[in-house]
Amino acid sequence: MQALLFLVALLLPSGAGAEEIIGGVQSEAHSRPYMAHLTIFREKRYACGGFLITRQFVLTAAHCRGREIIVTLGAHNVNKREPTQQKIKVEKQIIHPKYNSSSYLNDIMLLKLQKKAVLTRAVNVIPLPRPSDFIKPEKICLAAGWGRTGVNEAMSATLREVKLRIMDKNACKYYRHYDNSIQVCVGSPSTLKSTYEGDSGGPLVCAGVAHGIVSYGVEGAKPPAVFTRISSYMRWINTVLKGK
Ligand SMILES: *[C@@H]1O[C@H](CO)[C@@H](O)[C@H](O)[C@H]1NC(C)=O
Repeated sequence: MQALLFLVALLLPSGAGAEEIIGGVQSEAHSRPYMAHLTIFREKRYACGGFLITRQFVLTAAHCRGREIIVTLGAHNVNKREPTQQKIKVEKQIIHPKYNSSSYLNDIMLLKLQKKAVLTRAVNVIPLPRPSDFIKPEKICLAAGWGRTGVNEAMSATLREVKLRIMDKNACKYYRHYDNSIQVCVGSPSTLKSTYEGDSGGPLVCAGVAHGIVSYGVEGAKPPAVFTRISSYMRWINTVLKGK
């Protein structure tokens, strides 16, 4: 009996069954007007996500850097030429000075656009947290992107979104370089919902505020994944936005 009770406890989802509401779905078109799609030219062509924080700046991950980047705003289907889309070249990639490409620490980059975006129904900015807004475990937040919809699936043409749970730092301790003061551990291991390749650089949105940037996970996309904690970088962001 004791053993059975223990087993039942293990099989029950923790946190009042909130997993049932977590699932990846196609976003309603233009319902996330801050989303930016990045086409990155390096040796090959890559895709990342990002998000508009002022009319001239997009926030993304530092590992999305490249020789050249083109930002598409106002997109739902990135393979189509939608009238809502604004394609703007990046004038300057401002990588965090302490970004480390082997530990993936400080995986954050600001993109200065060649011209200011025009704000419309389909293109808008998203607020950032205050430095003291340290997002806590158990909160449910939203990640969106055009990344792969499964480990063996192709990139998604249309924007998709998924609700993810903020985890305690212990859930990410198997990531050797994880640092909870500057990163967020995201996604319950008891679900198969996660962000994946091509979603990098996209936002983690909690109550309308961008708190995280998709950074990395494990092969096979088993949650949790590691996001850059934006509140820890507000001083650097504000310095760059003010033009030093
Ligand atoms: C980057 O991280 C690796 C792994 O922790 C470390 O060995 C290396 O010294 C770091 N590089 C810099 C420039 O800090």
